Amino acid sequence: MNPSPLPYRAIEWRGHYLRLLDQRLLPDQVTYVDYVSAAEVAGAIREMVVRGAPAIGLTAAYALALAAHHAPNALSELQTAVKAAAECLKASRPTAVNLFWAVQRMLACAYDPRQANAPEARAALLAEAQAIDAENLQMDLSIARHAYPLIPDGARIVHHCNTGPLATGGYGTALGAIRYAHERGVQVHVFVDETRPRLQGARLTAWELQQMGVPFTVIPDGASGHLMRTQKVDLCIVGCDRVAANGDTANKIGTYHLALAARAHGVPFYVAGPSSTIDPATPHGDAIPIEERPPDEVTHLAGRRITPEGAGVANPSFDVTPAAWISGIITEKGVSRPPYHFSEKSQE
Ligand code: MRU
Repeated sequence: MNPSPLPYRAIEWRGHYLRLLDQRLLPDQVTYVDYVSAAEVAGAIREMVVRGAPAIGLTAAYALALAAHHAPNALSELQTAVKAAAECLKASRPTAVNLFWAVQRMLACAYDPRQANAPEARAALLAEAQAIDAENLQMDLSIARHAYPLIPDGARIVHHCNTGPLATGGYGTALGAIRYAHERGVQVHVFVDETRPRLQGARLTAWELQQMGVPFTVIPDGASGHLMRTQKVDLCIVGCDRVAANGDTANKIGTYHLALAARAHGVPFYVAGPSSTIDPATPHGDAIPIEERPPDEVTHLAGRRITPEGAGVANPSFDVTPAAWISGIITEKGVSRPPYHFSEKSQE
C-alpha cells in the first residue's frame, strides 16, 4: 500500500549529499539544507534541523553512507572513517535509542566480512541506509493498522510533540495512526499539545495535520487535564524515544504530565513506535539517559528573551512515563499490554 503523499520529504539522499528539511524554520519557511559530511549531519541532529526518534536514526544511517561515500578507496580506511563518524553521531543526542540502533546496524554492515573492497562496502552501506528508510515507512504503516481498532469514530484525541512524517521520514507513528483512521473515514479531532519549549506540536504537528486534512485544535501544554475534566477526551496517543524492557517510556518532556492526567481521568493512554525504539538492554526508565538541552530554549521565544536576565533554568528534553500508566504500546508487530516484558527475543 502506498501512503497518500505529502508535499515534502524530511530526509532525502541525493546521490552525493543528504538533504534535510530544516524543521527549525517550519511552518513559516520550507527550507532544505544540504550536507556533505557526517560531522555536519551530527550538528544538524544536535541543533534539531531534523528530530524525532526514527528520523534521527535514519539520518544517522545516511550520514554513515555519506562518510563511506567520501572515504578513501581502501577498505580499512573506509571502515576507520565510518567508525569515527559513528562516534561523532552517537554524541549528538542521547535519549532516542533509534540513533544508536541505526549506527550499530550500519557499523555491522561496514565491518561485515563479506565486504571485499571499498566500492562494495560503500554500495552496501548506502543500500543499508535505504533499507532502513523503506522499513521505517513499512513499520509506520503497520503501526497505523494495529492502532486502527483503538480509534473509535468521533474520537477526541490528545497528542504530544510531533510524530508525523517529519519525525520518522515515513508515514508517522502516533500521528500516522490518526492519519490512517482519518483516511478511512473515521471522524477524529486532535488536541495538539503545543509542546514547550521547541513547540513541535504547535509548529510541526499542526502543520502536518493541516496538510492531512485532519481537524485539530492547538492547546497549551497545561490544558489537557482541564480538557479531560470538562469535556470528553477518548484517548491520548504519543510517540516514544526509548522504551525500556519493562515498558517505561521516554518521550518528549510533558508526556509524563499528560499520562498522569489521563490516568486520573480514566482516559486510555497509548504509545506508538517502531520496534527500533524498544531497548531491551535498558531494564527500566531510571536507566534511560535524559537529554538536558541548552537553557536558551527556555529563556527565549522566537529569539526574544522572555525570562529575567540571570534566571535559573532547567531544560530536560524528555521524561519517563511509568509502564503501568500505559494502556498499550503499539509497534509494527501489534499492541502489547501491561505488564510489559520486552526482551531481545521478543524483538526478533
Ligand atoms: O526532541 P524531539 O523533537 O526529537 O523529540 C521527539 C519526540 O519526543 C517524539 O515524540 C518521538 O521522537 C517520537 S517520533 C515518532
